Amino acid sequence: MSVITFANTKGGAGKTTAVLILACELQRMGYSVAVFDADPQRWISKWFEQLGDKRPKGLSVVSYITASNLDLNIRELKNSVDFLLIDLPGARSPLLAQALGYSDYVLIPVQGSAMDAQGAANVIELLQYLDIKAGLHIPHSVLLTRINPMVTTRALQAVKEMLETKRVHLLETPIIERAAFRDVFGVGETLYTMDPQRVSNLEKAQHNAHMLGMEVFRRILPYVTARAQRSESKPLLNVA
Ligand SMILES: Nc1ncnc2c1ncn2[C@@H]1O[C@H](COP(=O)(O)OP(=O)(O)OP(=O)(O)O)[C@@H](O)[C@H]1O
Ligand SMILES: [Mg+2]
Repeated sequence: MSVITFANTKGGAGKTTAVLILACELQRMGYSVAVFDADPQRWISKWFEQLGDKRPKGLSVVSYITASNLDLNIRELKNSVDFLLIDLPGARSPLLAQALGYSDYVLIPVQGSAMDAQGAANVIELLQYLDIKAGLHIPHSVLLTRINPMVTTRALQAVKEMLETKRVHLLETPIIERAAFRDVFGVGETLYTMDPQRVSNLEKAQHNAHMLGMEVFRRILPYVTARAQRSESKPLLNVA
């Protein structure tokens, strides 16, 4: 099992949306995926409950993850899924360092704003601290979210410059601001079961999700393959 944690200490950065998109894309590639919902507001759990019989096969969600039950839940799941995605709450919590410590890869969703960038910087500093003090090197990338493809705002440019200065990897594929990504939570659907007549630019949202899924998969592959070779947990299937 490979663990990908989504973290930004600033609330509303787009973590849960990114988790939902990636979980569905990895599932579509044929992997079994579990999501740990560590947000007491349970957005992704509610979405999953609403899906009913439209739940993608091989996708599961575990609710009420806390600092005191994370270890146990990871141990229970270790041999039964290919990927575990952890959706953290949008604030500093004891769970953050704990979840990072379990991660094979960390994705840091960031909207093009100074406040989001500060929340990302908190996570990056913690990752650097774990690297220097504990020798725990956890690969990570920033993922831009809610981007308007037509304009690069000054705030977004500043975020990009900050990442370059800190030498933090930025994924090429951003998540574009789209109604489909917003609406998918309320309607009990996935991007692939929504009605294209009711959601504008659904195809573009699906394409965006697909491109992101492919890029993240390619990016994490060397790390998760190394992990699969090291550990006795079930090796990744379908890896060419
Ligand atoms: N690409 C997008 N297009 C449109 N709306 C989006 C997009 N990404 C996120 N949103 C909306 O922005 C809001 C915050 O997104 P989301 O819940 O994913 O952030 P979060 O980081 O998980 O927040 P929290 O810190 O509260 O857990 C939600 O209303 C969501 O629907
Ligand atoms: Mg969330």
